[in-house]
Amino acid sequence: MTPSTDPIYPIVWQRDRVILIDQTCLPREFKQVEINHYEEMAQAIKTMIVRGAPAIGIAAAYGMYLGAREIQTRDRVEFLQHLENIAQHLRQTRPTAVNLFWAIARQLETVRNTSGTVKDLQNILLETAQRIQAEDLETCKNIGDNGLTALPKEPEKLTLLTHCNAGSLATAGYGTALGVIRSAWSAGRLGRVYADETRPRLQGAKLTAWECVREGIPVTVIADGMAAHCMKKGLIDVVVVGADRIAANGDAANKIGTYSLAVVAQAHNIPFFVAAPLSTVDFKLNCGDEIPIEERDPAEIYQVGTTQICPDGAEFYNPAFDVTPASLIAGIITEKGAVKPGELIQLRSQ
Ligand code: MRU
Repeated sequence: MTPSTDPIYPIVWQRDRVILIDQTCLPREFKQVEINHYEEMAQAIKTMIVRGAPAIGIAAAYGMYLGAREIQTRDRVEFLQHLENIAQHLRQTRPTAVNLFWAIARQLETVRNTSGTVKDLQNILLETAQRIQAEDLETCKNIGDNGLTALPKEPEKLTLLTHCNAGSLATAGYGTALGVIRSAWSAGRLGRVYADETRPRLQGAKLTAWECVREGIPVTVIADGMAAHCMKKGLIDVVVVGADRIAANGDAANKIGTYSLAVVAQAHNIPFFVAAPLSTVDFKLNCGDEIPIEERDPAEIYQVGTTQICPDGAEFYNPAFDVTPASLIAGIITEKGAVKPGELIQLRSQ
């Protein structure tokens, strides 16, 4: 692949519809799909055509507009009732990433605070979706810069391990953990990325590796179970991951396998950072036990591609996320700065 620094935008508003990069096809094929209706958007979120916490928030915000523009009434109260049904449909797609619920709530609040005709309300929903998307891009760039300050000062060229994909594909276009990677790479502070393959959906092997290779960032893909071995051998200087929902005490839910990575990082005295926008923090939840964990189709475990790899008769368990306790997290890198998990609450009102 010829290196390219052209930005990757997983969600694009074009004329009167949304264009999504179909992330289930990468890196094999770069394919885009058109989304015209909110039900299609809900399906795209569920099936992970679009995925990653900030990206599904943005997608849901556009989904709200796509639904709203089809509501055939001039009556405000009736419009709001229909809109609530659309919101409910979109909320039922994926339970863990709070950005989904946050973006839908922001759309509903904006509409409630807007006077005018139904047409005005429809317009404000599109404007707000675009604003959420633009803000996320800015936010991720700030996370990248703040990450650069938070990273260990030695060695000069860091080897950084990440899990899943918290990159451009998972956000409006720069990334959280991969935003830190991008900023470190531009600043000459990064030697290599180790990407956990991230069973069962392989977001690390497929998406993180694709983003890095595309930009000429050296990347080594490892199977998830190899992380401890790499740490023991002194190959890893720092771990940076994204998050889907962070409780007020700093406990952070992220892709399954993140928790074990944090445990082994602590065992090897390697700093473990979480990079996430403040929209990923759910201040209503006191601790990580309260975070709902999505369970996905067991076929993701017993099949590789379309080939069954397990014997008939076995049982399967497929939680898509786990929660890393705050005690294992060296710092949470947000758009407002990097803080200790216990200090997160101080950023709320800033
Ligand atoms: O199931 P996914 O692929 O949506 O999970 C994505 C992750 O776990 C990411 O690390 C997280 O959403 C952060 S994205 C900036």
